[in-house]
Amino acid sequence: MLSIWYCMVDQNLLVLLCVCGNYEYILVEKRGEKKNVGFIQLNRPKALNALCDGLMKEVGQALDAFEADGDVGAVVITGSEKAFAAGADIKEMQNRTFQECYGGNFLAHWNRVSTVKKPVIAAVNGFALGGGCEFAMMCDIIYAGEKAQFGQPEILLGTIPGAGGTQRLTRAVGKSLAMEMVLTGDRIGAQEAKQSAFELTLAEGNRLEKRLFHATFATDDRKEGMTAFVEKRKASFQDN
Ligand SMILES: *[C@@H]1O[C@H](CO)[C@@H](O)[C@H](O)[C@H]1NC(C)=O
Repeated sequence: MLSIWYCMVDQNLLVLLCVCGNYEYILVEKRGEKKNVGFIQLNRPKALNALCDGLMKEVGQALDAFEADGDVGAVVITGSEKAFAAGADIKEMQNRTFQECYGGNFLAHWNRVSTVKKPVIAAVNGFALGGGCEFAMMCDIIYAGEKAQFGQPEILLGTIPGAGGTQRLTRAVGKSLAMEMVLTGDRIGAQEAKQSAFELTLAEGNRLEKRLFHATFATDDRKEGMTAFVEKRKASFQDN
């Protein structure tokens, strides 16, 4: 992994392009004069690019193809001006049990982007929340537009980040700000995210985080938090 660097870019650079491919949830093409940039655009506009299982599987397939393609030197992953990805797909998670999450090692395959051998750039504008923030942080470089918003709001749904959020955020923005973000669910903008960044060994922290994330599926509050989100009402937590 390279370091993560946050930079400001003109949001016009993130204007969306019409690209084609055989995917349902993403648009994929090779771009640039020499067609040596692998380009992936998350494309579930109605769901603000919520990261459903099918979308993440397709991203994995596109990354496999770009990694195997000798002509591709780097990969760019982007969303829309409104949302890089507003989060994981809460409806998919709402009724999951602890046993299902733990037994199936839920979210384990999300890590694919962090193991790609070529540089992966996240071009982020709009929401990069929850799984969207984690997904961006798995990339080697984040270019953030002025409207970018980063956050880990899982606590508002009675759960915790489950795809590296607690680990990579600490390394990206420092422990204090990361703790504040994870414990309050508050968001930060591109300017605030533009801090120096470094990456240490993640494997242990990620393994523990994944199991703690699974453990939230054994609580009533996690179920209530996600059900309230799906039903568009305020959650009523009982601390159970
Ligand atoms: C989850 O289960 C509840 C009933 O307990 C049901 O009303 C709801 O539609 C289910 N949600 C999903 C996304 O399947």
